[in-house]
Amino acid sequence: DWQMESFVENTVKELRGQIGEKHVILGLSGGVDSSVAAALLSRAIGKQLTCVFVDHGLMRKNEGDEIEETFTGKFDMNFVRIDCKESYLEKLKGVIDPEEKRKIIGTEFYRVFWDEIKKHQTDCLSYFAQGTIYPDRIESGKGKNGKSDTIKTHHNMVDQPTDVQFLGTIEPLKDLFKDEVRKVGETLGLPHELVWRQPFPGPGLGVRIIGEITAPRIAVLQEADWILRDEMAKNGYEKELAQFFCVLPGVNTVGVMGDHRTYADLIAIRAVTTDDFMTADWAKIPYEILGKVSGRITNEMKGIVNRVVYDITSKPPGTVEWE
Ligand code: XMP
Repeated sequence: DWQMESFVENTVKELRGQIGEKHVILGLSGGVDSSVAAALLSRAIGKQLTCVFVDHGLMRKNEGDEIEETFTGKFDMNFVRIDCKESYLEKLKGVIDPEEKRKIIGTEFYRVFWDEIKKHQTDCLSYFAQGTIYPDRIESGKGKNGKSDTIKTHHNMVDQPTDVQFLGTIEPLKDLFKDEVRKVGETLGLPHELVWRQPFPGPGLGVRIIGEITAPRIAVLQEADWILRDEMAKNGYEKELAQFFCVLPGVNTVGVMGDHRTYADLIAIRAVTTDDFMTADWAKIPYEILGKVSGRITNEMKGIVNRVVYDITSKPPGTVEWE
């Protein structure tokens, strides 16, 4: 796409002119926007860029490693991955209220992220980069995307603590729409899966595990969700559906395995089509595909999951996420 190539070329030139010999710090969530901003800045300034990735352990299976591999392997930059899985589990111990979970995950993220930034800022003053895109700027809160405010404050970290100083803010994608951002990402050689990623809530799998979040429960959900994603990709449903994922409701049901009775976890599948996430329809995935997913989950997770159900609720009255 020549238009995107010339956008990349011009932006790289501008960024180099603006930044000079200075340094830039970017918060990388692994979502499309911050990843494309990181790739673009890497092309422009290489090692003068530091990306900070806070790994709270609530991403999908292998996702943290994939992000690290992508950015340390293919792109020139300083990549900092902060592993705070343990401290998150500690903070979330015994918490079952959805809003409290969100608050803890968000607050902890903010603290860890800015502590790291402050360390860097003591060496020398840098610029602060964000993956803000055009719709983020025009939707002043309650626009088309109901949750966009929450999403943005969480991912793009617009609220900077007052005790952190920067040379300025850099937003290289601020005039682009989402589809243009994806094209730029592809032009820069980001992996296809990353560029076409579905929206993923800031609190991650935390709001898809009903009840207490524990390491074994995260592992169960990650495994089932990975099987669902694999089947959907094989059957070409990835781009057709706005979002699809598994939920761990925390319900045990009775089943049978050979001549034994089992009492194991239930997995729910959620899949929706929507234009703006304000309203959504449950996706009419063919029975054969649902059957295949159910067969694989109960088979590959024998003794752990013995029942799979499909969520046939639209929004409203249901929300997309279960929490
Ligand atoms: P709901 O569940 O409100 O979801 O119908 C609509 C869209 O928003 C995403 N979502 C969130 N994103 N932080 C986020 O960054 C959150 O707390 C959050 N809750 C929901 C959800 O995945 C869907 O795309």
